[in-house]
Amino acid sequence: MTEPAQPSMTDPASPAGPRHGGLVRRLLASETGLLLDHLMRLDAESRHDRFGMAVGDAFLRQYAERTARLDDLIYGFFVDGELRGAGELRGLGPEGPSHWRAAEAAFSVERPWRRLGVGEQLMARIVRAARNRRAATLYMSCLSRNRAMQTLARKFSAELTFEAGEATTALTVEGPTAFSLIYEAMDDATGFATAMLDLQRRALSRPARL
Ligand SMILES: CC(C)(COP(=O)(O)OP(=O)(O)OC[C@H]1O[C@@H](n2cnc3c(N)ncnc32)[C@H](O)[C@@H]1OP(=O)(O)O)[C@@H](O)C(=O)NCCC(=O)NCCS
Repeated sequence: MTEPAQPSMTDPASPAGPRHGGLVRRLLASETGLLLDHLMRLDAESRHDRFGMAVGDAFLRQYAERTARLDDLIYGFFVDGELRGAGELRGLGPEGPSHWRAAEAAFSVERPWRRLGVGEQLMARIVRAARNRRAATLYMSCLSRNRAMQTLARKFSAELTFEAGEATTALTVEGPTAFSLIYEAMDDATGFATAMLDLQRRALSRPARL
């Protein structure tokens, strides 16, 4: 009997030799507090770029609560257990089989970690996740002045349209392959193990209650 083909160790969503010294893994449902902390650390301009408008702390609190309730999929960029970047994927359809048919994505990276390949790594994971959920199109919106997001989207062959100060990028997503499914499963398994270690580290760093 022939052995099943082994997946190549070069997963396109995990480029070798990251330049940033952190790691990208999926966020647990219980970690939306970390997402809020990350969004709160974004300066006013970054928040504007991320949400397409000026947003305050109250908006971010509501947003994080809503994200926790919805079936969003979030990949986080972690440095020493702290979330410093996020890629979020949301299905646009109603609950049910067509939920992921069209999806939207959004990205945020804290300033000191920009231009180190974090956004690209997050986007590769999000595109793979969209692919594995059989999304046909992945949309991303940003301000028309947001060159960083547009250049990043173009790297993934997304098409851009501009209207009223806003740019919408639409990426046609290919169907899943055995490899894309295996890579996501392997990635999530190692990510889950790391998440457990992060959880333990956070619990141990909390002051003991007597
Ligand atoms: C957009 C954003 C997520 C990019 O994150 P990042 O980690 O800096 O991106 P990367 O380092 O992976 O860059 C990947 C590519 O994107 C392009 N890019 C990133 N930042 C850029 C910039 N400021 N100007 C031009 N191109 C840029 C480049 O092609 C880059 O590749 P290179 O460094 O090899 O030239 C980050 O700038 C950000 O968080 N901005 C604020 C929030 C936001 O605008 N979100 C988008 C709307 S949802």
